[in-house]
Amino acid sequence: MENNLLQLIEKWKKETKTDDQVFEYERMLRFLYEKEILKKLPKKYYDIDLINVPEKIKDFVTRKDKNKKLFIHGAVGTGKTYLAYGIKALMEVSANKLNIDDFVFINIPELLLEPASLDIKKYYQTRNKRKVIVLDDLSVEKQSEWNIHRLYVLINGIYENDHFLIITSNSNPQQLSERVGDRITSRILENSTIIKTEGKDKRIL
Ligand SMILES: Nc1ncnc2c1ncn2[C@@H]1O[C@H](COP(=O)(O)OP(=O)(O)OP(=O)(O)O)[C@@H](O)[C@H]1O
Ligand SMILES: [Mg+2]
Repeated sequence: MENNLLQLIEKWKKETKTDDQVFEYERMLRFLYEKEILKKLPKKYYDIDLINVPEKIKDFVTRKDKNKKLFIHGAVGTGKTYLAYGIKALMEVSANKLNIDDFVFINIPELLLEPASLDIKKYYQTRNKRKVIVLDDLSVEKQSEWNIHRLYVLINGIYENDHFLIITSNSNPQQLSERVGDRITSRILENSTIIKTEGKDKRIL
């Protein structure tokens, strides 16, 4: 484990741009391993590879003051959910510094299966506290008007409460806007870092 950590730090040092970022990466990674934070993720992600994450994600996790939203889009199986879990772990390391009290990982298709009476507000309502909220698999194809309305309530709530928001989706920003309209899309994309995952479906390589 210790060797992996040193290798990781060396590689990130070479790739990063400012001393502050290098310092922040080192701090995050040390905590991540020392506190065994990866073990809090689902078992599948215990050995998650944090060496080869896109540069934009390294920027996002070390300069959180600048950007609070991340939109990850790409084809099926290209690693969006995988990246989202990696980011969640990295951000957890900065929790105290950022005054974050909660990390919420919501699978959108699962959420939309819930009965209409589900209180969506519980996901974003907090008193002067910040959350990191991951909305995984914002698949907006063939959604009913009612589901689009529920998504709006959720996303607007996250937006107004100023939480960190990380979204993964099979739709690119253009498709998103065509399918769920401008009101949702505009709230997601405002000051957002956009990342496209490339390549083939890793599940069937
Ligand atoms: N960088 C990586 N290194 C190793 N395995 C990876 C990497 N990225 C993804 N995988 C693996 O590839 C598979 C697909 O990744 P993932 O579930 O993140 O895709 P996805 O883009 O979220 O797909 P979908 O659109 O179907 O939700 C998973 O088994 C995941 O563990
Ligand atoms: Mg996924």
